[in-house]
Amino acid sequence: MKKIKYIARIKRYNPDTKESYWQDFPVEVEDSLTVLELLMYIKDKIDGSLTFRAFCRSAICGSCAMVINGRAGLSCKIQAKDKIRNGVIRIEPLHHLPVVKDLVVDQEPAFDKFKKIKPYLVPDPKKVPDSLNSESLVTPEEFKLYDKQTDCILCMACYGSCNALEGEEKYLGPFQLTKAFRFIADSRDGVDIEERIKLVEDHGIWDCVQCQMCLAACPKGIKPAEDILELRRIAKDSGEDNPGTRRAKHWFADVFATGQIDKWHLPENAFGDEVGKEMTKQLEEEFRARGLKEEEFGPQPFDGIEQFQKFLKRLVKEAE
Ligand code: SF4
Ligand code: SF4
Ligand code: FES
Repeated sequence: MKKIKYIARIKRYNPDTKESYWQDFPVEVEDSLTVLELLMYIKDKIDGSLTFRAFCRSAICGSCAMVINGRAGLSCKIQAKDKIRNGVIRIEPLHHLPVVKDLVVDQEPAFDKFKKIKPYLVPDPKKVPDSLNSESLVTPEEFKLYDKQTDCILCMACYGSCNALEGEEKYLGPFQLTKAFRFIADSRDGVDIEERIKLVEDHGIWDCVQCQMCLAACPKGIKPAEDILELRRIAKDSGEDNPGTRRAKHWFADVFATGQIDKWHLPENAFGDEVGKEMTKQLEEEFRARGLKEEEFGPQPFDGIEQFQKFLKRLVKEAE
């Protein structure tokens, strides 16, 4: 077995002193180790106090997610040698969660948000069989809608990568929203779609910035960002009227009319209240201060917009 030398740079946290620091561990180990095996080697041979969480070692239990060279993932699934850069591999705890010790984070805040979306099926009385002799059947086509999402192992790698959480810690989070989509798509669920949508609107679907980092992080190939777009579409189609749906409608109408978003009227149209109007007024003042004339405030249709509109209409038809 080939051995390689490199430095494992690990972010540590001592809960007694509340001190957080990076520690370098020079190692010479087999090149076949996963990141988790590397951590186990260090704990066994160099520093027994190094703390991390793991169980199955097979990408099933979801307990070993951490940030490796800036990207969240399962340490038992990632080969250490693939992550060595200039002789160093950097390992730190998942972001957006309080650190308990070294690489162990407290998952409770994320689970508290998870509970808010009712992450369980409430049987629809019309679909529940009268006796155990029959089953509540789902067609293969129906199951395809949420098959992938049922693979979620709650590892929180997506949560630790989410850019929306950088700016707003109350944001529900990617796996929570993916799970919400999974139950909305399940025909056996007895909760009204409107009710399920309401559960994901406050600091939820409209706060996602569509950075796609959750897709990149997920070890199971789940795409929370796409499920969030689907939830937005469901919210819009179910007639929800709130700043999020109004903003979405406004964006589409603007882009259809001119090819650009009309940021000038966006606050007024999205919020529809005095605060929104005041924001639009402030933007007007900024435009004037920059020397713009009234007719230059909003975006104007570009030459050939008709072709673009035909293209958009075709896209909408295909999506229906
Ligand atoms: S796409 Fe949305 S949910 Fe996914 S990581 Fe980015 S902000 Fe978070
Ligand atoms: S969606 Fe993927 S990354 Fe997020 S918790 Fe589930 S399995 Fe982990
Ligand atoms: S140890 Fe179970 S997923 Fe990595």
